[in-house]
Amino acid sequence: MPLLFVAIVLLTVITVVWLVVSRRQSLPCPVWLRWFVELDNPFARNNRASVILDHLDLQPGMTVLDLGCGPGRLTVPAAQRVGRDGRVVAVDLQAGMLARAKEKARAADLSNIEFVQAGAGEGKLGLGRFDRAILVTVLGEIPDRTGALREIFDALRPGGILSVTETLFDPHYQSRQTVARLAGEVGFKERGFFGNRLAFTVNLEKPTSGRQAT
Ligand SMILES: C[S@@+](CC[C@H](N)C(=O)[O-])C[C@H]1O[C@@H](n2cnc3c(N)ncnc32)[C@H](O)[C@@H]1O
Repeated sequence: MPLLFVAIVLLTVITVVWLVVSRRQSLPCPVWLRWFVELDNPFARNNRASVILDHLDLQPGMTVLDLGCGPGRLTVPAAQRVGRDGRVVAVDLQAGMLARAKEKARAADLSNIEFVQAGAGEGKLGLGRFDRAILVTVLGEIPDRTGALREIFDALRPGGILSVTETLFDPHYQSRQTVARLAGEVGFKERGFFGNRLAFTVNLEKPTSGRQAT
């Protein structure tokens, strides 16, 4: 019993320190943990790739940004949904994550995915080119969350949708209130919400009028 107590306290302290440090510098999910990300989260149905993509109204021919794509859990099914005339741009900070995503794209015989090694907020996304953007359990890993959201906002077409998913099982968890506040600050309007406290997704629209790319 005392051992369990010590373990829980230790885990809590590590998580809190990790969260505080994450706000100042990049501490991404380690590549060696990618197998866990690939499990497609058996603990929270609302964090599953199929559930998130079902709510995103992906159409053949669309261009999709998967920012913080990790091992390609959503990249591959998104590319299948937009088809040969569509495109997915999969961006991640870590080469090891992109290598696994590329492997899966090859195995699925997909040629409509562009892989980019870059950090959110580095200015690599371009302007007004995406119909949809996906940010699944990534926001809390980005030190400058507002800068990253502004870059995504600018990279979307007017009327484009950003889908943000967060799960309580992620040490970088961001609450619904935090996501709404940060997204509102850069100009997004909430267009949909599903899930619960364990895992939720907010779909945010770039309005067709008002602030555009800066
Ligand atoms: C928890 S994983 C989630 C992967 C994927 N979105 C999913 O849900 O399966 C977070 C990913 O975000 C990436 N990441 C963290 N900070 C980033 C940043 N500043 N820019 C781009 N990618 C980042 C990490 O390398 C990692 O692959």
